[in-house]
Amino acid sequence: HEADAYRTDLMTITRFVLNEQSKYPESRGDFTILLSNIVLGCKFVCSAVNKAGLAKLIGLAGETNIQAEQKKLDVLSNDVFVKALVSSGRTSVLVSEEDEEATLVESSKRGKYCVVFDPLDGSSNIDCGVSIGTIFGIYTMSHNDEPTTEDVLKPGHEMVAAGYCMYGSSCMLVLSTGTGVNGFTLDPSLGEFILTHPDIKIPKKGNIYSVNEGNAQNWDGPTTKYVEKCKFPKDGSPAKSLRYVGSMVADVHRTLLYGGIFLYPADKKSPNGKLRVLYEVFPMSFLMEQAGGQAFTGKKRALDLVPEKIHERSPIFLGSYEDVEEIKALYAADE
Ligand code: AHG
Ligand code: MN
Ligand code: MN
Ligand code: MN
Repeated sequence: HEADAYRTDLMTITRFVLNEQSKYPESRGDFTILLSNIVLGCKFVCSAVNKAGLAKLIGLAGETNIQAEQKKLDVLSNDVFVKALVSSGRTSVLVSEEDEEATLVESSKRGKYCVVFDPLDGSSNIDCGVSIGTIFGIYTMSHNDEPTTEDVLKPGHEMVAAGYCMYGSSCMLVLSTGTGVNGFTLDPSLGEFILTHPDIKIPKKGNIYSVNEGNAQNWDGPTTKYVEKCKFPKDGSPAKSLRYVGSMVADVHRTLLYGGIFLYPADKKSPNGKLRVLYEVFPMSFLMEQAGGQAFTGKKRALDLVPEKIHERSPIFLGSYEDVEEIKALYAADE
């Protein structure tokens, strides 16, 4: 009977979020509509990513020049998300990695949410078919006046929801609305995201570190010491394994499920690191904290940053609670 229930009682992401939002009856409809438009964008990108692989086969057979089409994938993804979000009628301000300026939604289509997103993360991995993703964070408007860019220049702890979708060996959407983290897997035959990873908690400590070690010659003292400790522990503990995909979504997803730490530190060439505060650092930090982990900038809790510009960058160290404690201690000792 249990097995029957499992197969027939499908917890779709829409149903899950409707249940979760039943505490806020006045907003559950709006949030569900917003989310279903994000989900639509993710399904589109998932299908486009798969077709990109197919186009490559055709290209290799010499029938078309797929190069132009491949390059367009992040632009295409951006267009789909912007159009889906504007037409949802539930947004006022959109910030995308692909757009220099924020999109201020015209008055007839406005709603109470602001969405910040990276439509296609890990774009250097598109051409070789390695996992890529979409990252998003959601704020609410705090007033009814004309929306401005300032409406999204708020600390990450003010986000009401955040998530990512990973286009990997399966397509997975991981979401938090501030009450834990849940993972949904796309069932391609249904076209629905089904709850497969309820209440994700990151292990307290992990045995993997994830960083672009090619930048090591430019790192600061604490990051250098930390990575040295991962490789040559002096306290008798085993050395950590290194895993680095180069797609933040994939590296953070593995960190969330297996534990460990992901680092994109500052270095001499990039004093603020590489990753963007609004649509990379904040959503992933939100998910980490909601799963019981931590996210640290080298100076403070990542979610307490207050961005001054929409494309601002920050160093980031996130993952298992105890692993992030160690890097915090090294930066504290360095002050
Ligand atoms: P994007 O493809 O959205 O521009 O982001 C790429 C980011 C992120 O996915 C990843 O963690 C990081 O770039 C990798 O950077 P390095 O190649 O410098 O390691
Ligand atoms: Mn990115
Ligand atoms: Mn991107
Ligand atoms: Mn980019």
